[in-house]
Amino acid sequence: MKTAFELIDAMTGYQPAAVIASACRLGVFDALGDTPREAADLAAELGLAPAPTGTLLASLTALGLLGPGNTLTPLAERLRRGADLELLVRKEAFFAKVWTDLDPTIRTGEPRLAPWTERLETEPQVARDFLAALITLARETGPDLTALPEFAPGRRVLDVGGGLGSYAVPLASAGADVTMVDLPQVVAWAREDLPGNVKAVAADVLAVPSCGVEPGSADTVLISHLLHDLTDEQCVRVLREARAALTPGGSVVIVEIPGDSPGTMGPLFDLMMRVETPGKARTPDAIRDLLAAAGLSEIREAAYPRPVLVLVGETG
Ligand SMILES: C[S@@+](CC[C@H](N)C(=O)[O-])C[C@H]1O[C@@H](n2cnc3c(N)ncnc32)[C@H](O)[C@@H]1O
Repeated sequence: MKTAFELIDAMTGYQPAAVIASACRLGVFDALGDTPREAADLAAELGLAPAPTGTLLASLTALGLLGPGNTLTPLAERLRRGADLELLVRKEAFFAKVWTDLDPTIRTGEPRLAPWTERLETEPQVARDFLAALITLARETGPDLTALPEFAPGRRVLDVGGGLGSYAVPLASAGADVTMVDLPQVVAWAREDLPGNVKAVAADVLAVPSCGVEPGSADTVLISHLLHDLTDEQCVRVLREARAALTPGGSVVIVEIPGDSPGTMGPLFDLMMRVETPGKARTPDAIRDLLAAAGLSEIREAAYPRPVLVLVGETG
């Protein structure tokens, strides 16, 4: 950032996000379609004030989300209630509340949200929406893991902290024999939608041996976006139990956003972890050290464009 203009642009970066989130909550994308509509007509239907509704629609048009006559673009159709991008809007609108009051986390090092296991009980819908949004994030921004030999058809894959199946489902569709393991509440939600070719095991992987499955029963263990929520000691414990779940010669595959990602991505991702969880973003070297401490060897980076980091370690 070199000019005051760029700085002011950064300061007002919340405004487009607020416009999109408000339009979602007010049902604007649900009410619009491929037939042109006047702002006053839409305002009357949704019980809104006509003048600001007109400006909201003009803002959405300027953002490229509405076409002529306030018609929906294909992207905006995905902002209708329950659609994949609307789930992401809900996730970001929830986290924005703690981001706009970041100071306590910087002062104390404490996250602003309750621990994940507590949130599963106290705000289950928010937690479930968050996990559903991760499916979209994996599809839109995640690595295509089906390209790796570790996930080839027929390989027995254990997806540790698999959420609602962000990676388990596409890997099983491509022919891998996938079991995912997650906390009991998450597995109960996942089972409502998982296809029949994905098995789900309910377990706290910090508390049970070999991540809740038979020792030596997996060819590959996937750990995607879990380590950044954990302390170093917890990471090593999970990685050791992942190693125990593997057959000799098996591999652990880690997917993470490293703290040294280019531009603002790395530091902002690290702050995201610190404000939302007691975790942190690590450098690739720090993650390699954790894998080595858990007894994994032959650690290498798979060829995916950053910011995503995919590290593979072998049982040796
Ligand atoms: C950030 S989400 C990542 C989900 C998915 N792997 C992905 O990449 O989209 C972390 C997941 O790990 C699960 N998890 C956290 N702690 C766990 C534990 N101790 N045992 C099992 N699963 C856990 C959470 O419930 C959540 O589903």
